[in-house]
Amino acid sequence: MARISNDMIARICDENDIIDYVSQYVTLKKSGRDYSGLCPFHHEKTPSFHVSQDKQLFHCFGCGASGNLVQFVMRTENLDFVDALHVLADRAGIVIPEGGGMESDAEHEKKKRILAMTKEAARFFFACLKDAKTGAKAKQYFKQRNIPWKTITTYGLGYAPEGRDTLVKYLMSKTYTAKEIVEAGLAVSREGQIRDKFRDRVMFPIIDVRGNVIGFGGRVMHNQKEINGYSIPKYLNSPETPVFDKGRNLFSLNLAKNSNEQDIILCEGYMDVISVYQAGVHNIVATLGTAITENQAKLMLRYANEILICYDMDEAGTKAALRAIDVIAEAGGRSRVIRLRNAKDPDEYINKNGIEGFKEAVRNAMPSTEFKISLIKGRYDTTTPDGKVLFIDEAVNIFMGIKDAVEVDAYITKVADDTGISRDAILAKYREKTSQKSYRSRIPKKSEYVKQTERRQREAVKNEQTSKKLLEAEKRLLGLIVKSKRLGRMAAKRIKPEEYSTEVYRRLAKEIYSAYERDETPEPAMILNDFEGNDLSSASEVFYNLEIYDGDEATVNDLLYTISLERLDLKIKNETNPAALSELYKERERIKSEKNTWEE
Ligand code: UTP
Ligand code: MN
Repeated sequence: MARISNDMIARICDENDIIDYVSQYVTLKKSGRDYSGLCPFHHEKTPSFHVSQDKQLFHCFGCGASGNLVQFVMRTENLDFVDALHVLADRAGIVIPEGGGMESDAEHEKKKRILAMTKEAARFFFACLKDAKTGAKAKQYFKQRNIPWKTITTYGLGYAPEGRDTLVKYLMSKTYTAKEIVEAGLAVSREGQIRDKFRDRVMFPIIDVRGNVIGFGGRVMHNQKEINGYSIPKYLNSPETPVFDKGRNLFSLNLAKNSNEQDIILCEGYMDVISVYQAGVHNIVATLGTAITENQAKLMLRYANEILICYDMDEAGTKAALRAIDVIAEAGGRSRVIRLRNAKDPDEYINKNGIEGFKEAVRNAMPSTEFKISLIKGRYDTTTPDGKVLFIDEAVNIFMGIKDAVEVDAYITKVADDTGISRDAILAKYREKTSQKSYRSRIPKKSEYVKQTERRQREAVKNEQTSKKLLEAEKRLLGLIVKSKRLGRMAAKRIKPEEYSTEVYRRLAKEIYSAYERDETPEPAMILNDFEGNDLSSASEVFYNLEIYDGDEATVNDLLYTISLERLDLKIKNETNPAALSELYKERERIKSEKNTWEE
């Protein structure tokens, strides 16, 4: 990732206002010193999403999403840090100079080299396929699967030859090192030797929306699951690398995004996508050998209004489809389900029935709610009274997850018609269940966020020598000193960065102390740029509750006292040597008496 200088980052953030920007996504209301609204990152009915103008941070007390404006843009637009900065720079009319504002960055160089290498590998695989001798078997395989040369060039398909290290040797001749090749996921190192990861497989390059080759899927050219007692995976995929994130990319989205259709068809396999594409339907993508993620759903929803799920018709496929429906809804999108009769998957379907039948199935895609209901209906004998009761009970559970009242009404009518049970009876059941549910939801339940925080604390307590009380005191101390140079310098004299109990706190302390050493004011929003994931939530919590952490020298003294006493008590708990123990107890007395002197 190209690093943009801190000065430039600060300027871009200064010229954009977080309230202004977030308001495009969330209706914000002023509440106290903050603004609040419904969180855009999870579904909720009461607002727990807060945005602070003076701190330029957001924080959701429901799901834990938090960060500064750049991180908000990253999440909502699915961009990396640098791209998000560019979006904000554009809004503010700032031009990021090539070079001038940029620091060259080892990470950026590394990714560039990996991308160049994967592209080189794709060319190599293609050349091997093209080669009359090396590629004969693979060409035959593609032919047998009805893939003409034109499709091979559209997708840049290829063949990874049989040898142990053909690709490795080739890439080394292009100046790539063994370490780099392994890091790019193209080779594995075993007992000190490095070998090609993909051998004797037909290759499917995975290309991102910007046109970079970021990884590969490789398929064996037979259907044996096992050879000589070794199980052989049908498809082998590149591992996650600095440029390949399976949860944030989709096969063939680079082509599907240009299709001008309102929807995107989501299927399971590389071959499915290719078959459908070459038959003239271009708005189709596949996941990369893993279950669909919310990021992938959001990525598709950037290019489509609706997602048409086209998974295998077997039990696993149905289960995956149900999950996909929920993930897509969670990402704020709509979906329908395509059902293909008499075929395992789209590829098989088209080879049997041609593309027209497939298009027909796409037109008849079933709304997700209807799909869910048809599935449960299949489980009960709805000709009997008992079967009807059980079926309606489950159907009503599905209705409860629907937000649109009109949709609920329409499905109640449908289920009434299908079962012969009166609409009124079903409606009564629905009302009864929803009122039970809202009663239940009035009983305070631990929010996901509180659970997350507790989980993080438990982990810290387990992994590091710390306690809940110690963590709380350190958190409050950091929150306090970030606001005041005087208090910051006071703390810096008495507790070193490395003495804090968690990695996140140690990093924060270091940042805050060093800002004061440079005679600058630490800026929470800037400091958070270096954090992500869970660490970002932990770090943002430190800054976010500043209001309740008001305090002065006495507060700092109190907190430092708690911290040293807690740390000592942890040592005492773990010490078994009597002599050492007695020293620790003496130390404890000393700390306590010192505290008394402060208080005088
Ligand atoms: P399927 O087993 O349904 O294969 O896996 P397919 O797509 O029909 O492939 P063909 O028609 O036999 O060639 C669907 C997807 O699951 C992933 C791949 O992404 C594949 O396209 N997969 C499957 C793996 O990653 N590894 C495997 O061993 C099998
Ligand atoms: Mn298949």
